[in-house]
Amino acid sequence: MKKELSQNYNISLLDDAITYKKLKFNFRKNKEQDHTELLDQSAEKFRYEECKDVYWNPEKFSLLYGTPLWDNSSASERILLNQLYWVAYYSQIISAEIATIYFNQTAAAGLYGIEDFRTVCETLDFESMQERAHISAFKKISEDVEFALFGKRIFSFSMRPYYYETMIFQKTNILKRFWKRLQLQSYGLLSSGNAFIACQYLTVRGLRTLNGKIIQHQLSQFYSDMSPELQKTAPAPSAVSYFHFMDESYHFNSSNIIGTDILKLLKAPKAFERSIAKLGIQGTLKDHSNFSTMVNGIFWYDPATFQAAYDVMRSKVFNFSHKDAINMLEQCFCKENEGIHLGFKTHQTALESYKSYLAGIDYLDEDIRLGGKMKETSIEKYLSQNSLEFQRFKKKAA
Ligand SMILES: [Fe+2]
Ligand SMILES: [Fe+2]
Repeated sequence: MKKELSQNYNISLLDDAITYKKLKFNFRKNKEQDHTELLDQSAEKFRYEECKDVYWNPEKFSLLYGTPLWDNSSASERILLNQLYWVAYYSQIISAEIATIYFNQTAAAGLYGIEDFRTVCETLDFESMQERAHISAFKKISEDVEFALFGKRIFSFSMRPYYYETMIFQKTNILKRFWKRLQLQSYGLLSSGNAFIACQYLTVRGLRTLNGKIIQHQLSQFYSDMSPELQKTAPAPSAVSYFHFMDESYHFNSSNIIGTDILKLLKAPKAFERSIAKLGIQGTLKDHSNFSTMVNGIFWYDPATFQAAYDVMRSKVFNFSHKDAINMLEQCFCKENEGIHLGFKTHQTALESYKSYLAGIDYLDEDIRLGGKMKETSIEKYLSQNSLEFQRFKKKAA
């Protein structure tokens, strides 16, 4: 920083040489290894016909894995459940990444007002460009699969604004949706004009992606464990999981560098900034306070997925009668089974990693550091809320 000239802020990114170097290195590496083109090519060459008879993920990453539906499925039906996991999982990732693109931009705007923050902003710009390629690949494949299997959407959705509920299957209603929209729009406005809140967005982004990182690492291994020879003929969705994870590992690093190291460079937050920061983290813990048996690894509110599960079972590929589908729905979601335990276990693993991430943040209250709403989750609560909602669903579907 040119000390002899007056500045609006008393800091410059160049004051912290180590952090600056880390950020530059991460950005350069990400650009060198950028998977945009490979993702575009994989999506372009995807033909469902060519990979419809094989698994796309490790077996345990299958829709309703470990439930009576899985136990009673034939080998070919299990393949379908495995592929539908991919479609459902990455449809959720599309929703999260639509929001990420917008908040990357507002955060960059909020930080550009400080001296020498160009590299931070360019990192975020570059990541947004990558997210668009990720979304395109997920969307093209998901839509092709759903069209081929069902002739309609089940998990995928048409493009939509950033302020929609991020969880595509959530416990919500018109009022809650409106409130969420106001909150997200206000957060965007605040972060674009306040360096602390902008920087803190990356802390929230880091937290939100912790669980994704654990799951996506395993999804990517399906491809990376193959020999180079086998990779040439690997199903395109498996390659997409791998290429995506490769890009995301750099995003995770930048969340940490900006949301932790650079945040420390800024002035201590004022009371107002602290309260916004707390709300952001608290909101994430609330958003992640459900676990899903439908898609183990995503924190959906399962009663909101009943219709999707019902539609899958009633489709020509599974061919259940109405009565059998309703009965199976109850077995899968309302009676204790292995799938439920596996979903809960993933939630608990995530909770532990969230807790260690939050332990180092000094402006948080004890309750938030211990996991906030996420620590209230239990199998008993899950079963009783599902049973209640199932009765409603059954009546409506009759
Ligand atoms: Fe992504
Ligand atoms: Fe990302």
